[in-house]
Amino acid sequence: MKWNADLYDDKHSFVFQYGENVLELLGVKSGEHILDLGCGTGYLTSEICKQGGVVTGIDASADMIAKARDSYPDIDFVVADATAFSFEEPFDAVFSNATLHWIKDADAAIKQIYDALKPGGRFVAEMGGKGNMHHMVAATKQVLANYGYDKVDENNPWYFPSPAQYAARLEQQGFRVTYMAHFDRKTLLQDGRHGVAKWLRMFGPSFFTAVPENALPEILDEITGLLEPHYNDNGQWYTDYVRLRFIAIKE
Ligand code: BEZ
Repeated sequence: MKWNADLYDDKHSFVFQYGENVLELLGVKSGEHILDLGCGTGYLTSEICKQGGVVTGIDASADMIAKARDSYPDIDFVVADATAFSFEEPFDAVFSNATLHWIKDADAAIKQIYDALKPGGRFVAEMGGKGNMHHMVAATKQVLANYGYDKVDENNPWYFPSPAQYAARLEQQGFRVTYMAHFDRKTLLQDGRHGVAKWLRMFGPSFFTAVPENALPEILDEITGLLEPHYNDNGQWYTDYVRLRFIAIKE
């Protein structure tokens, strides 16, 4: 997927603002070597650095990494895929915010992360969990089906696991899961009712690959209409985010 790094920073900064809470869970200790997996434009990577971590950020998007390097020239950023990366020295911790749900081959990513950690190292992450964006996905499917687009499931780019599903994968790899939480986090959409279309254009373009650009505004408008009863709260629009957070230790 091609990311627009400027739009991401401008309109979707909540992604990393909420990530600051996950940083508390990471609990950086001065001098620790930390990998920020799916670092995007590098904001949380720079926070880890400020907290005393010796941090490397990786992201599959070259545009995101270019922006991160530009904003934080003293931090090491690398373009790398979460399912196929390696570093010479192992890390004390791997941190990841709002990335793992993009990785359909979760086992491959979990193995890479395990291999990248020192024994006793920790994997601390937040991702979309089971039920995340349920209404958004359901409304998108419904409207696209009404227009005769039938490959909606195979175009869904996300994996939103339940706690049991993800814990089983972590344990199968050899991690000990010491903490896991699955909770709702209603999240304000920028730009009110226009925010649905903007969000889908930014994060879910793969749903609409078969839709000609001139047909898209009407489809996005119908999706917005279906979401109104769920998302519009006295003029403020909120999405139905559900988070999965965990700490897993390499034993
Ligand atoms: C999330 O953080 O849950 C998310 C962000 C973008 C697309 C899908 C899910």
